[in-house]
Amino acid sequence: MNAFQASLPLTLDFEVGAIRRMGDKVAPFGTKVFLMVDPFLEGSEWVAQVTASFIERGIEYLEFYDIVPNPRHTTIDRAVDQVLRAGCDVVVAMGGGSAIDSAKAVAFVAVHGGNCWDYTERLGEEVRRPQRRGLPLLVVPTTSGTGTEATPFAVINNPELGLKCAIVNPFIYPDVALIDPQILVSKPPKLTALTAVDTFCHALEAYISIHCTPWVEMVALQAIRLFAANAQRCVEHGTDLEARANMAFASTLGGMAIAGAGVTVSHALGQPLGAMTDAPHGGTVAASTPHVIRWTLPVAAEKFATVAGILCPETLGLSVNERAERLPVILEQLFTTLGVTDTFCSYGLRPEQVDEFAHTVWTSFNQDLACHPKPINNQEEVAAIVRMCF
Ligand SMILES: NC(=O)c1ccc[n+]([C@@H]2O[C@H](COP(=O)([O-])OP(=O)(O)OC[C@H]3O[C@@H](n4cnc5c(N)ncnc54)[C@H](O)[C@@H]3O)[C@@H](O)[C@H]2O)c1
Ligand SMILES: [Fe+2]
Repeated sequence: MNAFQASLPLTLDFEVGAIRRMGDKVAPFGTKVFLMVDPFLEGSEWVAQVTASFIERGIEYLEFYDIVPNPRHTTIDRAVDQVLRAGCDVVVAMGGGSAIDSAKAVAFVAVHGGNCWDYTERLGEEVRRPQRRGLPLLVVPTTSGTGTEATPFAVINNPELGLKCAIVNPFIYPDVALIDPQILVSKPPKLTALTAVDTFCHALEAYISIHCTPWVEMVALQAIRLFAANAQRCVEHGTDLEARANMAFASTLGGMAIAGAGVTVSHALGQPLGAMTDAPHGGTVAASTPHVIRWTLPVAAEKFATVAGILCPETLGLSVNERAERLPVILEQLFTTLGVTDTFCSYGLRPEQVDEFAHTVWTSFNQDLACHPKPINNQEEVAAIVRMCF
């Protein structure tokens, strides 16, 4: 076995009703919370449960609801300003990946100063990479998709530059994640499907990454098994708490997998597509995945065959290469069944934009391209892959 390292520097607390313990979890970290909440939760019993737990412990809190999908750098900077002016010493986030990524950035920048955009990775630009933690951060994910509760990434959108880039820093993990399947029940079928597909893509991309380790392989394959058994159940029976809990676990495992091995081409293409079009993250990633697999075959044939075997056990009698070749079709059918059918075209990317788009991918998501098992050497090769996806 090759040498490897694995680290998960946070406490995970999975339980129905876990959010009622938020006050107890916050108490060791501070006394004044900046509570960043996804606007869909405004006025909900879930926020009431969390704020009641603060009051019980004598913890003050300031609420902030100004969060949009594909979170804006300006919103994050505004939130940092409020944290500093109010003297908050802990950040708590409840929401989807956009809310939690915003909170990761807020907690970090509140301590290290300046604007959040200066901390995002961009090829050839000066990037701030502090090697110390920010404010304590506790999170409650409300989507089962990004796994951001278990990653050292925060993805930020800069519409003025037309770019979406990520802070990548081991010091931005949350301290605690409370994962409460009750909050996932309100997710409508479409959002459930889009976020589940994001989880699947994290697991697949980390598994085929050149940085995959035995640890990553274990968590990625378990995430794929849980996705296979529960995604459709969550879409069709949104109140099935067991399926919701299993998908939440898959999402966290997917986060752990990309924390260890990174994502690859589908995310490198999907993130800037999300910035250009404001399309939902899971859909932008899914749009290229079957094409990218076809292009990558046979470099990762054995791994693709393993995934095909999990998703479609009927293929287990086939040879490794036959099974691997089936994977793009299996995924096209599965994504269609789940209702995730958008393409680069339907999201509004036009063929004449391909070169400019490839330039953005090459400069903003070079780290992800570098994880792909089939090497990508320049912007022209990125453009060729994008054309293939049309
Ligand atoms: N940091 C990471 O490791 C990482 C990994 C993958 C993706 N991302 C980023 O995360 C963002 C996507 O996050 P997301 O897919 O969780 O979606 P999201 O946070 O953007 O939310 C999408 C929509 O769903 C709503 N919503 C959230 N939870 C809900 C619930 N339980 N019920 C009803 N509505 C709900 C939100 O209000 C929002 O309108 C993107 O910006 C993406 O780039 C980050
Ligand atoms: Fe993702």
